[in-house]
Amino acid sequence: MKKIPEITLVKDIKATNSVVLGISDQKVFQELGFSKEQLDYTLEQFDAEQKTQVWINQFYRNKILLDVRKIVKHDNPAEIARREGAKVAKLVKENKLSSLGISIDNATVLCGFVEGLVLSLYSFPKYKTAKNNYQGLKDIKLVCADLKKENITELSNVLEAVFIARNLVNEPQNFLTASVYSDIMKDASADVGLEFTCIDKTGIERLGMGGLLAVNMGSVQKPTFNIIEWKPANATNTKPIVLVGKGVVYDTGGLSLKPTEHSMDFMKSDMAGSAAVFSAIYAMAKNKVDKHVIALIAATDNRPGKNAYAPGDVIKMYNGKTVEVMNTDAEGRLTLADALSYGDQFEPELSITMATLTGAAARAIGTHGIVGMGNASKKLSQMRKVGDAVYERIVEFPFWDEYNEEIKSPMADLSNLGGPMGGAITAGKFLEHFVKAPFIHLDIAGPAFLHKEQQYNPTGGTGAGVRLLYQFVKNYK
Ligand code: BES
Ligand code: ZN
Ligand code: ZN
Repeated sequence: MKKIPEITLVKDIKATNSVVLGISDQKVFQELGFSKEQLDYTLEQFDAEQKTQVWINQFYRNKILLDVRKIVKHDNPAEIARREGAKVAKLVKENKLSSLGISIDNATVLCGFVEGLVLSLYSFPKYKTAKNNYQGLKDIKLVCADLKKENITELSNVLEAVFIARNLVNEPQNFLTASVYSDIMKDASADVGLEFTCIDKTGIERLGMGGLLAVNMGSVQKPTFNIIEWKPANATNTKPIVLVGKGVVYDTGGLSLKPTEHSMDFMKSDMAGSAAVFSAIYAMAKNKVDKHVIALIAATDNRPGKNAYAPGDVIKMYNGKTVEVMNTDAEGRLTLADALSYGDQFEPELSITMATLTGAAARAIGTHGIVGMGNASKKLSQMRKVGDAVYERIVEFPFWDEYNEEIKSPMADLSNLGGPMGGAITAGKFLEHFVKAPFIHLDIAGPAFLHKEQQYNPTGGTGAGVRLLYQFVKNYK
C-alpha cells in the first residue's frame, strides 16, 4: 500500500533540496540573500492580486516562495494553506521530486500546507502493471520554531489514516469481500494496539442481527460484524463514544437492482463510512488519544441472488423490532441499525453513524459537504465547528418527529422506505429507532467518492470523515 512521505522536523534545510519558503515579512528576503531585482520581481508577483506563490526554477532545485501574509488574512488560514499545498503537489509530481524542505514560521499555515500537499500526493497504483520509476515524494523536512516533534507525528498519523481509508474505498469488491475487509482491519488494529473482535456468520445468527443477515442473503460471501475498541487508561470519558460505519462492500441494490446508468459503477465505495470510522479510530490509537471509543462495522455486500431478500419481506432486527422491506436498495439502514442497537449495551455517551446512506443527501448538497442530523444537538453543533476547521463541513438537516410518519408500515413496526422527499432525513429517523444513546447521523454519500478531483481530494475514495471524526473525538468534552 502507498505510504505517506516521511515528515521530520529539522533545524535547517539542506541547500541542495527543493524548498518552500514562507514569506511573512521582508526580512526573510534579506536572509535569503535576494538581489534587488529578485526582491522586486517577487514582491511584484505577490502583489498581483491572485498570486500567493512564486516558483523559481534553479535547475537542480526549485524554490517556492509562499506569501504567508495573504494566507493569514483569511477566515480559515489552515484551509487556504491546504490548497497552497495542493498547488505545490503538482510541481512535486511534474518535477518528480523525491524530497522537499518547507520553512514556514506560522504553525497553522505550515500544518495546513503539509496536509494539503500530502493529501494531494495520494495515488492508488496497485492494479497498474506498468512500472513507474518515480517513487513519489519520499521525505519532507520542516523548519518551524512553533512546532514540536509530537505535532508532526500526530499529523503524519492522521494523514496515514486518510490514506488507509482511501485505499480501502478504492479496493474493488472482487478483492475486498467482507472477510478480507475484516482481516485487513484485524492486522492494522494489531499494529496500533486496538482491541479487535470479528463475529462470524454463525455468531451474527446467534445474536439475531436480522438486518445484516437479510442484506447478506443474496450474497455468496459471508457477512462479518467487527468490533474495534480503543480504551486508554487515561480516558477522560467514563462512557464510550460509539462510532458505527456503513460497511456495504458493494451495493447492487439487491432485487431492487440499481439502474446501469452510472449508479452501480462506484458502489464499491458503499463501505466508505466504515473505512472512515476504522481509519479514525486507528489514528486515535496511534496517537494515543485520551478517549474511550468503540467502532462497530457490519460488513456485507448487497446482491440479487436466488436466496436474496425481497421487497415485502418482514425481518426481525437485533433489538427485536420488525421491519417491512419495501426496497432492498435501502439496505444500509438495516445493517447500521443492527450495529447501532448492539452499541447500546456499552451505554455510550454518544453514538455516531457515518454512512454513504442516501442518494438524496448527495443530491441535496453535492460533494462539498456532509449531511448531518441527530438528537444530540449540542454535540452536533460542536461537530459542525470541527467540520469547518478541518473543512469537512456539515450541513445540519432537520430531525423532526413528523418525518416518522413516512417510515410507518401497515405490516411491521417500521418500513425501510420513506416517501419520495426528504430521503436523507427519513433514513436518519429510521436509524433513531435503533439507538437509545444520544445520536448523531452523518451521511457522506456526496463527498466519499469523487468522479473528478477537487483541491487535495483525488478522484475515487477521498477518506471523507476521517479528519472530522479524529478531531471531534480528540477534542470531545
Ligand atoms: N448506497 C446507496 C446510497 C448512495 C447513492 C451512496 C449514491 C452514494 C451515492 C444506498 O444504499 C441507496 O441505494 N439508497 C437509496 C435509498 C432509497 C431506495 C430509499 C437511494 O438513495 O436511492
Ligand atoms: Zn442501496
Ligand atoms: Zn448502499
